Amino acid sequence: MESKKIGWIGLGNMGVPMVRNLMRSGFDVTVYNRTAAKAEALKEEGAKLAASPAALWEAADVVITMVADDMALKSIHDAGFRDGARSGKMVIDMSTVSPATTRELAAKLAAKGVDYLDAPVAGSVKPAELGQLVIMVGGQQACYEAALPIFGKLGKASFLMGGQGAGNAAKLAMNTLLAFNMQGLAEAVIFAREKGIVPEAMLAVIGQSAVANGVTKMKTANLVGGDYSASFALKHLAKDLRLAVGQGMHTPGGIAIHDSFQQALAAGLGEKDMAAIFPFLEGKKV
Ligand SMILES: NC(=O)c1ccc[n+]([C@@H]2O[C@H](COP(=O)([O-])OP(=O)(O)OC[C@H]3O[C@@H](n4cnc5c(N)ncnc54)[C@H](OP(=O)(O)O)[C@@H]3O)[C@@H](O)[C@H]2O)c1
Repeated sequence: MESKKIGWIGLGNMGVPMVRNLMRSGFDVTVYNRTAAKAEALKEEGAKLAASPAALWEAADVVITMVADDMALKSIHDAGFRDGARSGKMVIDMSTVSPATTRELAAKLAAKGVDYLDAPVAGSVKPAELGQLVIMVGGQQACYEAALPIFGKLGKASFLMGGQGAGNAAKLAMNTLLAFNMQGLAEAVIFAREKGIVPEAMLAVIGQSAVANGVTKMKTANLVGGDYSASFALKHLAKDLRLAVGQGMHTPGGIAIHDSFQQALAAGLGEKDMAAIFPFLEGKKV
């Protein structure tokens, strides 16, 4: 991508550190966020502000969206986003949304001559800060190659998974596995505790064993310390499992893990970290 002008929509837990990485790497970044106050800190660090999604098109050659869910993404597109769209520009959506939504929005922008990639990420806030995300991309090979300089600053690896929607299909598969990892860790610790083993001891063994992985290591401190402030909000994982089932996931574990996280969401844990599935399964309040 010759141009370095990026327009960014969505300044949540992930968007802010990702924008910082692009700015540090010399990209010219203009940002928009529904709650404008969240853009102030980035303005002080050198980002330009756009008053609306439509206005962002004027300042950017590539527009990147990183918002909560399908509804958020569609509402941005419906609220004048497409009005500013210009032929020859590109949209990269890095949110986790349904592959069907990706294809629908991509088709509408294609009618205006705008290229579209879905490029959701694996990795939470820390990898976002470190530029160590793993990026799963759906779209055309040439568009993917054009976006590689951007992906190279945000992530440690990117993979073209197939056509538009394939990035999000891969992401839903990843987050099904993530949910299994999180709930599996919680269930093992609960079982051990019921047999008289304290969580710290059980987690220490898990940490040294073949079943240790990034999730078990990252979430051990949460489970031991009881800190459930959101790095990856439980509501987002519940949403991803809902999307997976909506896209046809039918295997028994997948259905069970979907139901478990929907129940935790219904119990009011949506704003907590996904690790709050542990106290939920224990029947404790957080
Ligand atoms: N956090 C993680 O660890 C992680 C990891 C991988 C992937 N993801 C995915 O990345 C995406 C963003 O995650 P996040 O953790 O950054 O989410 P977040 O902290 O909840 O931020 C959500 C962003 O979406 C915007 N938004 C929500 N509803 C909107 C609407 N109706 N119209 C316009 N904007 C709206 C919010 O704007 P306001 O500021 O105005 O609310 C905010 O900028 C999600 O799809 C998530 O599943 C997250």
